[in-house]
Amino acid sequence: MRQEGRLVTAGQHSFTVVQVSDTHLGRHPGPIRSGYPDSDAQLETVLLDVLRLHHGADLVLVTGDLAEDPEAPVYQRLVDHLARLPAPIVGLAGNHDDPGVAREVFVGAGHGFDGERVLGNWLVVGLDSCWPGHSAGLVHPGELHRLEDSIDRHPEHWVLVAVHHPPVTVGSRWLDRLTLTNGDELLATMARHPQVRACVFGHIHQTYDAMHGPIRLLGCPSTLVQFLPEASDFALEPVESGYRVLRLHPDGQLETEVRRVPATVPGELPA
Ligand SMILES: [Fe+2]
Repeated sequence: MRQEGRLVTAGQHSFTVVQVSDTHLGRHPGPIRSGYPDSDAQLETVLLDVLRLHHGADLVLVTGDLAEDPEAPVYQRLVDHLARLPAPIVGLAGNHDDPGVAREVFVGAGHGFDGERVLGNWLVVGLDSCWPGHSAGLVHPGELHRLEDSIDRHPEHWVLVAVHHPPVTVGSRWLDRLTLTNGDELLATMARHPQVRACVFGHIHQTYDAMHGPIRLLGCPSTLVQFLPEASDFALEPVESGYRVLRLHPDGQLETEVRRVPATVPGELPA
């Protein structure tokens, strides 16, 4: 029930959401390319940190580029890694993924895949931004409609949107050619609903934090390797892997931080 423009919060409490992104698991455990660290080992180190510091998380979002080789056994290995976490898990596909295969494995393991999830008076909506044959993303009209429908069915809820590709450019020339092609449409759709508080995404392998009007736009590090911010051409940054933690409060406020995980700096990155 709305009162004086705010959503009623009596009896509600805050929720913790952990975002893990761009795990890029290969066909077999090990580096997916020369000079890279082992994708599985990096993910395991990150998940152990999540387990140690955020054991009681209410939801884990895994925001795409789950696999470098998008095959069922690879997604199964990811699900096996994620089984360490007691929290409910929702996956999303990225440009490296096969959304159908990933969904089948995630749902088969009892996890969510995009869709929606309610946490108290918050609604979390995952959107598919895969554009087959392209590294850039596209949120199809049907997904935008699903987002609006989901919001309309939860008029008393604050909203967190999760998607793989960022809806904005991030100041990195090579990466900005690979963002969401219709990011403006997604931003306009979210802006029509004042209860949308934030949009989290992966894809950029780096931290990002900016406002679009009242909507907070938040990018997440990769569990594997990090892209150098503001780079003109592809370049890696030798910093630790990370994940994002969001604290969703019943009054619509949101707190967030990126946790960098020790022992995940790659030794020697390729030039
Ligand atoms: Fe990625």
